Amino acid sequence: MAAPVLLLILLVPAMSLPVAHCDDNDVGFQLKLTHVDAGRSFTKLQLLNRAIARSKARVAALQAVAAVTSPAVDPITAARILVTASTGEYLVGLAIGTPPLYFTAIMDTGSDLIWTQCAPCLLCADQPTPYFDARKSVTYRAVPCRSTRCGQLYYPACFQKVCVYQYYYGDTASTAGVLANETFTFGAGNSTKVRAPNVSFGCGSINAGDLANSSGMVGFGRGPLSLVSQLGPSRFSYCLTSYLSPTPSRLYFGVFANLNSTNTSSSSGSPVQSTPFVVNPALPSMYFLSLKGISLGTKRLPIDPLAFAINDDGTGGVIIDSGTSITWLQQDAYDAVRRGLRSAIPLPAMNDTDIGLDTCFPWPPPPNVTVTVPDFVFHFDNANMTLPPENYMLIASTTGYLCLAMAPSGVGTIIGNYQQQNLHILYDVANSFLSFVPAPCDII
Ligand SMILES: *[C@@H]1O[C@H](CO)[C@@H](O)[C@H](O)[C@H]1NC(C)=O
Ligand SMILES: *[C@@H]1O[C@H](CO)[C@@H](O)[C@H](O)[C@H]1NC(C)=O
Ligand SMILES: *[C@@H]1O[C@H](CO)[C@@H](O)[C@H](O)[C@H]1NC(C)=O
Ligand SMILES: *[C@@H]1O[C@H](CO)[C@@H](O)[C@H](O)[C@H]1NC(C)=O
Ligand SMILES: *[C@@H]1O[C@H](CO)[C@@H](O)[C@H](O)[C@H]1NC(C)=O
Ligand SMILES: *[C@@H]1O[C@H](CO)[C@@H](O)[C@H](O)[C@H]1NC(C)=O
Ligand SMILES: *[C@@H]1O[C@H](CO)[C@@H](O)[C@H](O)[C@H]1NC(C)=O
Ligand SMILES: *[C@@H]1O[C@H](CO)[C@@H](O)[C@H](O)[C@H]1NC(C)=O
Ligand SMILES: *[C@@H]1O[C@H](CO)[C@@H](O)[C@H](O)[C@H]1NC(C)=O
Repeated sequence: MAAPVLLLILLVPAMSLPVAHCDDNDVGFQLKLTHVDAGRSFTKLQLLNRAIARSKARVAALQAVAAVTSPAVDPITAARILVTASTGEYLVGLAIGTPPLYFTAIMDTGSDLIWTQCAPCLLCADQPTPYFDARKSVTYRAVPCRSTRCGQLYYPACFQKVCVYQYYYGDTASTAGVLANETFTFGAGNSTKVRAPNVSFGCGSINAGDLANSSGMVGFGRGPLSLVSQLGPSRFSYCLTSYLSPTPSRLYFGVFANLNSTNTSSSSGSPVQSTPFVVNPALPSMYFLSLKGISLGTKRLPIDPLAFAINDDGTGGVIIDSGTSITWLQQDAYDAVRRGLRSAIPLPAMNDTDIGLDTCFPWPPPPNVTVTVPDFVFHFDNANMTLPPENYMLIASTTGYLCLAMAPSGVGTIIGNYQQQNLHILYDVANSFLSFVPAPCDII
């Protein structure tokens, strides 16, 4: 592996300017979440096709990670496959260094590392902003090999006493560079702008891959190097606006992440529901939930709860993810939902798959047929997540059908962002639970 040798020229002399102290317990800010396809002139159908294609790639990657992270597998392979999953769905704005260099990055709840491309770049992917140049920042510090942070990498390496990380996108592409500390700036307006010193990040100088027109990645996973774990208090929330709404979604961090003041969208004021996260030792960074069953309306579907269990090899289980668009349901559960919909919806089943979905009905229905689509309920441990029809069905009006916005998965279940529209969802990493409440995300 040639990368560590090439990295030699990147090491900058340590500088000794003081940086401001910041009380970690008070860190809080909010950010706009921009959908990766926002502002581009795609039709509704094209947007869905693109999102489904991204989801397919991500699901394949996430499942591969679980399959290889079993004890016999080396961490390089695990990291390589993990990063294949990096094409996310939402971008956040942030800044690095002193003076701050602003950029956008993929927000990823499925991984931990924060990284951006650094100058001088030996091999870089296209990005819309200049590469971060550590020599122009007074707060940059390379992390030494023998530090806790270095040991938290999947595959730490050492070159000239500096911690070097290497993540792989697949067989031909990779990101590698120095693990360093920097001051990051979050929040746009003066009121919420927060400078966080000593955030460890990957300063990547040998990278390739698709960054979705952004300049890096911010991991929000459960592991120690994620932004949420590094800054503390370890919680964040987001409220995703309606899938094709022009209003950006929002992310709330630290003390700003609070469902108590959320305006709920249901007039009855649905109470906040909470369910514990489950740890999958094969994928410790990811947010697994304990799912017990599914209902359509008040009808509980006949699904063996084992369909949602984590298998001994780390595959299976139920992940909640922001970087997957449509939900992938374990095959038996998918089949039960499909049968349930076919009996609830008095329309002939269509075999239309040109948008990659295969539980579809002709739409609009004939005038003499009344269709009432039931709510969809995920029954988690101690919490029910009720999805109205617009959160799990979609109408492709140009082509004339109504489809289930979910796909069958050979292994596990991943609850995607299409299903999370207009829910305010809080990830309490410190106390290990997920809370959610219906909310009008474009006005909170
Ligand atoms: C960053 O970490 C270094 C090394 O532990 C420490 O000397 C420095 O004071 C820290 N900076 C801030 C702003 O906390
Ligand atoms: C932020 O503060 C600076 C300096 O106090 C001021 O010049 C600027 O107008 C403020 N920006 C906003 C958006 O309030
Ligand atoms: C990097 O930041 C961490 C967390 O504040 C700190 O423990 C570590 O000493 C810092 N390292 C350097 C080289 O500043
Ligand atoms: C990439 O982002 C820039 C601004 O960050 C925008 O002007 C440009 O249109 C985007 N390109 C694509 C292909 O989305
Ligand atoms: C919400 O309010 C309850 C009761 O007032 C309080 O115990 C809880 O800590 C609050 N939650 C958050 C996230 O602030
Ligand atoms: C859908 O496919 C099934 C089996 O392949 C077939 O029996 C059925 O007639 C098809 N339905 C339509 C509407 O094409
Ligand atoms: C609706 O009308 C069509 C044509 O008149 C008829 O064939 C069909 O059976 C009717 N369906 C229902 C549910 O009444
Ligand atoms: C969830 O829904 C089921 C069935 O409607 C009900 O029995 C259960 O009490 C609900 N659980 C919670 C936490 O509301
Ligand atoms: C809730 O809605 C009311 C009116 O619709 C608005 O005045 C209030 O600011 C909202 N509260 C929050 C926390 O957004």
